[in-house]
Amino acid sequence: MKIDGKAMRTIWLEADGASVGIIDQTQLPHRFVTLILTTLTDAAHAIKSMQVRGAPLIGATAAYGVWLAMQADASDDSLARAYETLHATRPTAINLKWALDEMTAVLRERPQDERAAAALQRAGEIAEEDVGINQAIGRHGSVLIEAIAATKSKGERVNVLTHCNAGWLAAVDWGTALAPIYTAHEKGIALHVYADETRPRNQGASLTAWELGRHGVPHTVIPDNTGGHLMQHGMVDLVIVGTDRVTAQGDVCNKIGTYLKALAAADNNVPFYVALPSPTIDFTVIDGVREIPIEQRGPEEVAVMTGKAADGSIVSVQVVPDGSPVANYAFDVTPARLITGLITERGVLTASRDALAKAFPERAKSAI
Ligand code: MRU
Repeated sequence: MKIDGKAMRTIWLEADGASVGIIDQTQLPHRFVTLILTTLTDAAHAIKSMQVRGAPLIGATAAYGVWLAMQADASDDSLARAYETLHATRPTAINLKWALDEMTAVLRERPQDERAAAALQRAGEIAEEDVGINQAIGRHGSVLIEAIAATKSKGERVNVLTHCNAGWLAAVDWGTALAPIYTAHEKGIALHVYADETRPRNQGASLTAWELGRHGVPHTVIPDNTGGHLMQHGMVDLVIVGTDRVTAQGDVCNKIGTYLKALAAADNNVPFYVALPSPTIDFTVIDGVREIPIEQRGPEEVAVMTGKAADGSIVSVQVVPDGSPVANYAFDVTPARLITGLITERGVLTASRDALAKAFPERAKSAI
């Protein structure tokens, strides 16, 4: 998507043909910094420290991380080490495992002297596939927004609420939940986005607001606990969120707080959609609440907030009393029954086992 008119992606092959460029998302929104990854350790650190984050981008970075490992050492041991190191970085987003399995399938049977080239080829394909998938999600999802726009009087905007960041910063380009929004915006549909701030790391306030603003999409940042009130007052036409893992029966794991938005949406008859690329489906898992591992992150994300001070410096301040214990669950699960539809690259599906298996039979079968 665009940053002040200039097209940009979140991850790219550097001109030296041996390293990968990324945007350091820990510095946004106040500083735009790019970094170069040259080793497996760099790639693992980028994922773990959340310099890159968001399920599809974690997957693409892991794929390039395998390539970086293969450049240094293309042995079976090195491939196994790369898999384990990258897999251990974050537990919830299934795109990570999906990408590592894809890379392993391509590399395992190849002679060692071909592995680096084959890894680069497959990592590049994974990145390109992500862009194509998200564009298709954008096409299908924008039809939903268009249909609501058709019911509005002249000058009225479609109001979309989103949680966390599932925009282009969470993917290679376009994003998942924001792809329908960007597509509708480009079609000239008048819309406005309510971006949940998304405590504790504030991906909505710092990333979603930043990318929507840079691309020129009207938006308002709201505290996480505001959505229910807006829905009660008819101020939200639909909710679109992303996801880190969708189970075979259509339960959706996403950033903590998503479940509460789904409950508020159900109580107010506001359609609640989840946008997902097929690599986010985990057909090996049925009951999301019981089976998906939920990442628990360090207490400092809750206890300390970082932002720009009046003099322009970036400062961190503690917002809880000294010694107060803190809990930091990074994700929650929204049961399929609360979901109006799943926006995928193959169309908008009901959140059900039948619909998912029918739309992605090749994925459903290989998981059995
Ligand atoms: O912890 P993060 O920032 O990696 O969180 C993941 C997400 O970006 C969100 O849960 C997002 O809504 C789904 S990923 C497109």
